[in-house]
Amino acid sequence: MCGIVGVIGSREAAPLLLEGLRQLEYRGYDSSGLATINTQEDSSCGHLTCKRVKGKLGNLNALVEKEGSPGHLGIGHTRWATHGKPEECNAHPHRDVSGEVAVVQNGIIENHRSLRQALEKEGVEFSSETDTEVVPHLIARELKLLSKDGRQASGAMLLEAMHRVSPNLRGSYAIALIWAQTPDALVVAKRQAPLVIGLGEGEFLCASDTPALAGFTRTILPMEDGEIALLTPLGIELYDEKYKRQKRSPALLSGVEHVVDKRNFRHFMLKEIHEQSETAELWIARHLPTGLPLELPVALPFQDSFYEGIDQIQILACGTSRHAGLVGAYLLEQFAGIPTTVFYASEFRYAPPPLAPNTLTIGVTQSGETADTLAALAMEDARRQTCNDLKFISRQLGITNRPESSLSRQVSNILDIGAGLEIGVVATKTFLGQLLAFYGLTLAFAARHKRRSYEEINTLSDELKALPNQLREIIKQHDAISESLAHKFSETQDVIFLGRGINYPIALEGALKLKEISYIHAEGYPAGEMKHGPIALLDTKVPVISIAMPGVVFDKVLSNAQEAKARDAELIGIAPIGSETEIFDTLFPMPKVSEWISPLLSVIPMQLLSYHIAAHRGLDVDQPRNLAKSVTVE
Ligand code: F6R
Repeated sequence: MCGIVGVIGSREAAPLLLEGLRQLEYRGYDSSGLATINTQEDSSCGHLTCKRVKGKLGNLNALVEKEGSPGHLGIGHTRWATHGKPEECNAHPHRDVSGEVAVVQNGIIENHRSLRQALEKEGVEFSSETDTEVVPHLIARELKLLSKDGRQASGAMLLEAMHRVSPNLRGSYAIALIWAQTPDALVVAKRQAPLVIGLGEGEFLCASDTPALAGFTRTILPMEDGEIALLTPLGIELYDEKYKRQKRSPALLSGVEHVVDKRNFRHFMLKEIHEQSETAELWIARHLPTGLPLELPVALPFQDSFYEGIDQIQILACGTSRHAGLVGAYLLEQFAGIPTTVFYASEFRYAPPPLAPNTLTIGVTQSGETADTLAALAMEDARRQTCNDLKFISRQLGITNRPESSLSRQVSNILDIGAGLEIGVVATKTFLGQLLAFYGLTLAFAARHKRRSYEEINTLSDELKALPNQLREIIKQHDAISESLAHKFSETQDVIFLGRGINYPIALEGALKLKEISYIHAEGYPAGEMKHGPIALLDTKVPVISIAMPGVVFDKVLSNAQEAKARDAELIGIAPIGSETEIFDTLFPMPKVSEWISPLLSVIPMQLLSYHIAAHRGLDVDQPRNLAKSVTVE
């Protein structure tokens, strides 16, 4: 949610900030801005220039190109509105009354109302509706107090002002700030929102996420919660919450894809859908390599002790990741025999179930930054830590596409789904990666807990190995079908998705994808539930998309589809070709795979159909309205 970037060095800051922001645009894109400080020849003080615009980053590029924003020091921001509409006045950077202090922030200052009231009582006039604006005013007040104490303007003084203000800020935030009187100082602060420092050649940078740094350096220093830092042309000073100097060696950005490239595809989303056969191939190479023993045909990501003594599993996640968790829960319970419950992380935080013994808690988050998921995991860990009974010991696992994220710093066992950078705001290949992670865990638990025979475990493993080719074929075929079908949805306002058993979460995912990018109202239901209410919605204008994959509920789903057809609904089937599936007006033909692995394939037409419907409507598929790739606010 929002992206921040900062740079100090020997080059002009504005082009570097704009390039950094381009890489962060997936975090929010309703307005943007930057501020730079230019040194004045006749004084040690600089001049602060601030440019802000409503709308996409292209508008900021145009403004900076036209009017310029000189200086070797600067901060930038791309916004996903939380407090105040996406207008220029609410775009960051925000400044103090003198216009000398500029701040960008990612996160939420939860106590901003009381801070604002106190500042207003002191006579401060606010110029935005944002929570962030309290920060430059508070910093300016501290700077005034420090200079009254006889301090000379310096980077150390700006850092101290941030240190004094931090304890008054509640919530989660990453902040970068500059001051016209110190053209050689960039100060940053982090609490529960991501912030990474980059050590470039002749310059230091900071950003909310590594892609914004990757074009400049591969040497990074992720900040810890409560830390603040001073970046100058000479180096970095890092301090903890107690203002104690920290010494930490930088890390190297891992070799995964950090470059934003659409190749020949019209949108990132389409490219990422097509990349899923590769995602599966890479996963199989890592987790199901040839030559594994029959009794354990999966490479275990963790030591044996990780799987021991687990009697139940709870999964915490949001949105698409929760849908992956629902498929995972089906597999873990029905295949591996472990009772598994899935929670919305945002609900779990405030209404956790009573503590259950011998529980593994799994957090699923592609970004590794989702505030609700991180907070739910932390809360669960804390309540288990305070229990003296060993049965309630905390064991956690994080499933993510970003092993360098906040999740990885919070949870000790991490499963990296390795799907590569996903730029489209809606999740596609990371969903498939999350599903595969659950298949791996299911095989591991089934084998370790001896809940399935070797034959059953090896059959599932062999079926997974056939996946890349099957994916390649249906992506090609369904891409064409979806494209030709999209025009039929130009007037559609509601769509119903039906699935049962292991494919019920895929119906939910299909509905979510369609809502997110085409803005068509869609709902996913367990197929058997339709007659208990939603059937009242059906008529010729409400298409029904039904997932009917061979297995225990195949005939049941077809009967439920018949019920929809009898109400004149246009029927679209995700099913194998056969006489039973002739009831569908349109068929996305599926291979006759086992029910266990069917979600890995049935999700493809969901993604492609949503994509083509949205693209046909001329919508911004990669940056749908109101959404952001990582939701770092509660
Ligand atoms: C849907 C989507 C969102 C995310 C949700 C959780 O396409 O992307 O629903 O799944 O915001 O995000 P992560 O997985 O980063 O925790």
